[in-house]
Amino acid sequence: MVGGGSTYTPELVDGIARLRATLPVSELALVDPDKTRLDLVGGLSRRIFARQGHPGTIRTTSDLDEGVDGASAVLLQLRVGGQAARHVDETLPLDCGCVGQETTGAGGLAKALRTVPVVLNIADRVAALAPDAWIVDFTNPVGIVTRALLDAGHRAVGLCNVAIGFQRRFAAALGVRPDRVRLGHVGLNHLTWERAVYLDGEDVLPRLLADHAEEIAADLELPAALIRRLGVVPSYYLRYFYEHDAVVAEQLHAPSRAEQVAVIEEGLLEMYADPALDEKPALLEERGGAYYSEAAVDLVASLAGDRGDVQVVNVRNGGRLPFLPDEAVIEVPARITASGPEPLPVDPVEPLYAGLIAHVAAYEELALEAARKGGVDRVADALLAHPLIGQASIADELAPRLVAANAAHLPWA
Ligand code: G6P
Ligand code: MN
Repeated sequence: MVGGGSTYTPELVDGIARLRATLPVSELALVDPDKTRLDLVGGLSRRIFARQGHPGTIRTTSDLDEGVDGASAVLLQLRVGGQAARHVDETLPLDCGCVGQETTGAGGLAKALRTVPVVLNIADRVAALAPDAWIVDFTNPVGIVTRALLDAGHRAVGLCNVAIGFQRRFAAALGVRPDRVRLGHVGLNHLTWERAVYLDGEDVLPRLLADHAEEIAADLELPAALIRRLGVVPSYYLRYFYEHDAVVAEQLHAPSRAEQVAVIEEGLLEMYADPALDEKPALLEERGGAYYSEAAVDLVASLAGDRGDVQVVNVRNGGRLPFLPDEAVIEVPARITASGPEPLPVDPVEPLYAGLIAHVAAYEELALEAARKGGVDRVADALLAHPLIGQASIADELAPRLVAANAAHLPWA
């Protein structure tokens, strides 16, 4: 687990401990440059394993090579620049009237610029030391990072918890076990819509919306009338598009998510230091990582164990969305076997969604180009291509400012 010092790690460790029948882990290596965090998170992780009677060992190291050597799977959950860099992603674009978010819009571009080179270096070490390992990427922006890994020839799959979150929520609303529910999930990472919800193979989304549109809309902070009219459930990241200006107005008067997370993390690390704590604390639910552990365990179990079940992942398009290049990375249900994820066929996508998907996919391609090659002009092009930016004057103002604010993390700046 690279970025193993993350305060999220106990969520994953708890999942690995609970689901050991699905995925028998013999050794978990937590890799992180921050030794203090590694000690705190590693200590709690060992106590979680011990409490749940897990026979595996947990090792902590700041040496990447030592951590990934011989691994069967490598999970990436690092955050280049930490919450401080995230705070800039979430606030700088506001000066230009653009949404401040760590994966959407200008902030997402800045995060891609910082992250892609680091992840590619890590993946090279994995290829050298654990050539059969699958790389499971949670590191945002997941669509762009996964595309970078695949283009470089790595065995990589991108993962996000938005889909599993909907699956669990819909199952609860229907009063059934989650494994009976499958999603008609389509789009790009953090730009997805649920166009169908299958209960034992039958689409029950119309019924779900008839009975639960208000609750679903309240969760997403979107108008119930919009969701009823569309007849689909957008992910909460679509609020940054559908209510862009309202979100900006809110953000101008609220602490950034990075500031909120920094406070939560301080509390969490204090708890993790308590030798009596041997389970994940409730405070962790205030982070956005619900069900990550279950999604990760399921994915690694199917890749390693050739289970052939269907899970929502980030994977090459390969013609499933005919209006995108084959090489684009999309987020859809895929059959997961030992040879990797194979996306299922996708019903034709309505123009209302296809247009935005194509627009953001083009931005992602330019964002990756900027991250790989550097240069303020490439950054400005990516901003110009983004539907939430799109104006030359704004792109030209934001590009040099984003580069300057992130220079410490950009190999080329
Ligand atoms: C969700 C998203 C992740 C994102 C996280 C942020 O889980 O799917 O991609 O990293 O939220 O949560 P945080 O607690 O850091 O705001
Ligand atoms: Mn995500």
